[in-house]
Amino acid sequence: MTSSAKSPRTLHVITHGCQMNVYDSARMTDLLRPLGYRVVNAPEGADMVILNTCHIRERAEEKVFSQLGRLRKMKEGQGGAMMIAVTGCVAQAEGEVLARRAPFVDLVVGPQAYHRLPELIAAAHRRQGVVIDTDFPAEQKFDHLPDDAAPQGVVSFLSIQEGCDKFCSFCVVPYTRGAEASRPAAGVIAEARRMVAQGAREIALLGQNVNAYHGEGPDGGEWSLARLLYALAEIEGLERLRYTTSHPNEMTEDLIAAHGDNPKLMPFLHLPVQSGSDKILGAMNRKHKADEFRRIVEALRAVRPDIALSSDFIVGHPGETEEDFAATMRLVEETGFALAYSFKYSPRPGTPAAALPQIEEAVKDARLQQLQALLRAQQAAFNAALVGRETPVLFTGPGRHAGQSAGRSLWLQPVVVEHQANLTGTIGRVKITRANPNSLAGQIVSKEQIAA
Ligand code: SAH
Ligand code: SF4
Ligand code: F3S
Repeated sequence: MTSSAKSPRTLHVITHGCQMNVYDSARMTDLLRPLGYRVVNAPEGADMVILNTCHIRERAEEKVFSQLGRLRKMKEGQGGAMMIAVTGCVAQAEGEVLARRAPFVDLVVGPQAYHRLPELIAAAHRRQGVVIDTDFPAEQKFDHLPDDAAPQGVVSFLSIQEGCDKFCSFCVVPYTRGAEASRPAAGVIAEARRMVAQGAREIALLGQNVNAYHGEGPDGGEWSLARLLYALAEIEGLERLRYTTSHPNEMTEDLIAAHGDNPKLMPFLHLPVQSGSDKILGAMNRKHKADEFRRIVEALRAVRPDIALSSDFIVGHPGETEEDFAATMRLVEETGFALAYSFKYSPRPGTPAAALPQIEEAVKDARLQQLQALLRAQQAAFNAALVGRETPVLFTGPGRHAGQSAGRSLWLQPVVVEHQANLTGTIGRVKITRANPNSLAGQIVSKEQIAA
């Protein structure tokens, strides 16, 4: 490395989209730190701005172009002295379009090429015009990322799997993230140990299809997600494990069983089902029926009665009739969700469903409102049921107001207590006194560290 490469520079990172993008943004920052880049909180005046993008729905993409418009003005105001890099799923899907529509961008880097960022930056410094790298290289990007990552905190995220081979009719992810690939277990375990040494008490394993994990085990054999979770549970000081996002077709017997006998695995699962209509599930290429989802939920509740479920839903997929939508409402009513995300179907370029006759916007709006009202009521009921109960809370930091500590429950709810002393990193017993729509308030009953 030349000495000039280490001169102090400032970096601002803007992250859209899913947790995998959040993780990737942190890794890119780790990669650039040795080059002399220091993170700043605002883009104004920064030497480099990374816009890490999401392509999942039209709105997400529009945000990227409007944000680029603002960055362009700032760059001009700085006499051009701002390197702009667009990364993430819009970079992957629209690399050439971006270079044409936003020629003031210096770098377009797809999610598989982040380990090459330092050389790409050097190339961008050398030449005029946009440098694009959206290849899907054979080597794994994770193998090239630095070991000296900045600590994430009490709750840390760890990517273990990337990509998707499922090709749901509506979804861009298989095109932007490429084929399913799993990290070898040894690297995952080493990263988890480092996170725990840096203060992590809870680790959430990430992947677009995380339960399709099939990484190489230290013994040379193939490890399932369940196997990996047992190995991670042995790390001393690590108290809580989660994984997200899962596909129903990958909820294998061993993974369901792990929810019953891996005590560090939290009783909360995000399991997107998208629709309750078998016809629409078929049209979506989900390759399972609504009843199979019901059976998985039943099996999970049998081994872990306090498990809470979360899901994703799409309304207004091409072909969805009132009856199909009613089937979705029925599935939600029967299942009972602690939390759920619901979206209007958004046609994405290049995906099969985008080419089909579309449902009217007003119909989509009405269905979304109806579904969200039900989901909100279920979430409120789930939160309200905890009032008066004692439950372990992992404290993650101070609350918003002075004298408060904030943490999260077993079921991912934010919990606030009035407490002066610093509780960060400890698990305390809390009596829940109030439920809000999206959070809980409580009182400390015991500060004693309680093991999972
Ligand atoms: N890998 C995860 C999540 C993918 S994206 C999975 O397979 O479940 C997160 C959510 O966005 C999806 O679950 C889906 O509900 C929603 N989504 C994806 N594409 C969409 C589209 N074209 N329009 C509306 N919602 C979409
Ligand atoms: Fe998209 Fe379907 Fe893959 Fe999930 S499983 S990332 S919704 S294609
Ligand atoms: Fe968005 Fe890409 Fe994640 S499209 S949801 S950032 S995988």
